[in-house]
Amino acid sequence: MGELLRVENLRTYFFTEAGVVKAVDDVSFVVNEGEPLGLVGESGSGKTVTVLSAMGIVTKPGRIVSGKIFFRGQELDHASENEMRKIRGKKIGYVSQDPNSSLDPLYTIGNQLQEVIRTHFEVSKDEGWDRGIKLLKLVGIPEAETRMKSFPHELSGGMRQRVAIARALAGEPELLVADEPTTNLDVTIQAQVLELLKTLEKDLQMSLILITHDMGLIAEMTDRVVVLYAGKVAEEASTHELFQTPRHPYSAALLNSVPRLDRKAALVPIGGGIPNLITPPNGCRFHPRCAFTKQVCMDQIPPLEDIGGRRAVSCHRWKEIELRRNV
Ligand SMILES: Nc1ncnc2c1ncn2[C@@H]1O[C@H](COP(=O)(O)OP(=O)(O)OP(=O)(O)O)[C@@H](O)[C@H]1O
Ligand code: SF4
Ligand SMILES: [Mg+2]
Repeated sequence: MGELLRVENLRTYFFTEAGVVKAVDDVSFVVNEGEPLGLVGESGSGKTVTVLSAMGIVTKPGRIVSGKIFFRGQELDHASENEMRKIRGKKIGYVSQDPNSSLDPLYTIGNQLQEVIRTHFEVSKDEGWDRGIKLLKLVGIPEAETRMKSFPHELSGGMRQRVAIARALAGEPELLVADEPTTNLDVTIQAQVLELLKTLEKDLQMSLILITHDMGLIAEMTDRVVVLYAGKVAEEASTHELFQTPRHPYSAALLNSVPRLDRKAALVPIGGGIPNLITPPNGCRFHPRCAFTKQVCMDQIPPLEDIGGRRAVSCHRWKEIELRRNV
């Protein structure tokens, strides 16, 4: 199982008039081949900015201020836009969480696919068109030849999402990042899109990063998980272990805030909101909301500690506290 993507001590800040938003602040993780990874956390925790940084497509006023990114062991120089642009879409395909940003309403599906294909491969227009049809077939769009001539608004939400996935696949990426791929889709369509992602992963031997705030999706789709809180990694573990024995109070809180089909336990919402990232709390960023806070949590930033067994946690008190999922 080879290492595909390594993110080391990534910091991405937004330099706004109101101040510096420390959106991603010392985030590290690794994506291995064939090991679908989930990035989970509440809205505003830095999931999207993390992957946009890894692809080198953070836009102003955002900027990567430090950290290293490696793809298959090769460091990507984030200062060199050209190098990063080659990575974007080619090695890493990105399905945006905003369906309106991934497809242009003014052009047909065919024109858009053809254009992306031709930015990645030196092929004629006809060849680009034919490859577009193949991509639409690959993502399960019926009557692909006809659909190539449709405009995005002529398609249902589910079909548009399939086209967005086809577009992300155009460069034959080794890694597909699906950012909240099923938000705004109804339940049946959600299931179909997830099934498609699983099939593609297997058939194309492509690795997957799934971004979501839905722990149910994490359980269903991923083998490993990185829990982000307010721009920092709270915990990284295999999905199975995280669900069995969360080590970070925030991971436990996330797990306890989602409904479980197998038990009738009451949901415990996580109290409070995600902090302001211009002036985040001192020490552990989770301390204002944590049930286990002590003085040390307010004074010192907990390091992301390797706790063995390919697990890491950033909590001063992980050894002494007992976390339970509500039963
Ligand atoms: N262009 C921007 N200017 C200023 N701040 C930004 C900008 N883009 C993102 N941020 C800030 O960066 C932080 C992380 O945002 P990000 O979009 O990565 O969150 P997320 O985890 O993907 O949330 P969601 O689940 O809502 O998609 C947020 O505090 C957000 O306000
Ligand atoms: S470091 Fe302290 S405040 Fe932060 S999660 Fe651990 S116990 Fe809670
Ligand atoms: Mg996001």
